[in-house]
Amino acid sequence: MSKPETIETLRARIAYEKARTGYPEGFPALPEIPAQRYVSPKFYQLELTRLWQKTWLYAAHKEQFPEVGSYVAFDGVPGMPIIVVRTDDGFAAFYNTCAHRGGCLVTEKEGHCPGKRLVCGYHAWTYDFEGKLIGVPDQRDFANLDKSKRGLTRVRCEAWGNWLFINADPEASPLADYVRRIAPQLEQFDLDSLVLIDRYSYDCACNWKILMDAFAENYHFVSVHRGTVGLPGPKCAVEHRGTVMALYENGHSRNILPWNDGFEPRESASEETGFSMGMGGIADIETVGPIPRTFITAFTCFPNLTTPVYANGFPLLLFWPTGINTSRMDVVWMGMPHGEAQLPDAWKEKIAQFNVILDEDLTYLPSVQKSAESPAFRSVLVNYQERRIYHAHEQIDRVIGPDLIPPHLRVEPVLAGAIE
Ligand SMILES: [Fe+2]
Repeated sequence: MSKPETIETLRARIAYEKARTGYPEGFPALPEIPAQRYVSPKFYQLELTRLWQKTWLYAAHKEQFPEVGSYVAFDGVPGMPIIVVRTDDGFAAFYNTCAHRGGCLVTEKEGHCPGKRLVCGYHAWTYDFEGKLIGVPDQRDFANLDKSKRGLTRVRCEAWGNWLFINADPEASPLADYVRRIAPQLEQFDLDSLVLIDRYSYDCACNWKILMDAFAENYHFVSVHRGTVGLPGPKCAVEHRGTVMALYENGHSRNILPWNDGFEPRESASEETGFSMGMGGIADIETVGPIPRTFITAFTCFPNLTTPVYANGFPLLLFWPTGINTSRMDVVWMGMPHGEAQLPDAWKEKIAQFNVILDEDLTYLPSVQKSAESPAFRSVLVNYQERRIYHAHEQIDRVIGPDLIPPHLRVEPVLAGAIE
């Protein structure tokens, strides 16, 4: 590992990025990404069966489980209906699929299973919280029923602070290993203490990667966000050309975006745009160190979680495939407890301001999907500022297994030497 990172070492990297007059020396040129990765049914099927079913996915916040028996139905990925349930000693996850005739065990998004039992809504087959089949009505009428062979299909479920992740791959390495390169940097946010502040979702008419890619680079700020964070000229809040990115193992990454010189966004709205970051009036997470207080810092946890972390609370942005050309973004805000029955005005303001930026992306991106379905869309050419996108594509192939991907759909791996 290199020397410890400080405000000074980051400022030096920012200065280097700002001063560059050409492509960074020694950084690999990024090959074209085949366009078909965004629109091919074959590639979409590989993602469903080989990517989503083999990676750690954020499923819920512990607060969504007030008591033993509380459950959350995860519906982020087609073909992966999963139920997460609070048990006596933690959490368990299973496919929400009865071993009789495939009925759903639960049909609500959240709820409570009485008596520590999961009971299928179709014929009332009953399972315990280990997934064992313990009750079959009219059992006398089955000639070949071995209850020990008809339990629920278990899914891994592990916690990172108050966040519960699932993984349908029984062979996956533990969640703590998976996130070891980003977890220490998020520790300062006291993840065990953060509560749910607000949750909402957007349906989006584009492939999940078109959506996700837009949150992995700042190159589009000057156009899509020219009314907010990309205001042209010296009054712009941020300096996207000074961005410092870090690529980590397992497809994770970090984005550090400097404020523009002399810009004080924390208190008031910009005179030019009326836009502010809504930073005032919300309880700080006191343990947050200097880096996220000095630069706009965001982490990506592969494959589909991006979080811009602010010292007074922040959103998880989750990108889910709902079809080959549709997706859903969940926005899950976390912060210190505010003690009010209603969301305080300062929080409403912060969230509303953030949503202005989201709306700019969400309004634009469906047009990208339309054009991506045309024969003119042959490949994606990403630049150095967009390298987190290429990094994620390389990891998608590593998880799927390159041998399973037809050669014309693969990306060429070039970034191994750039991983920090
Ligand atoms: Fe954007």
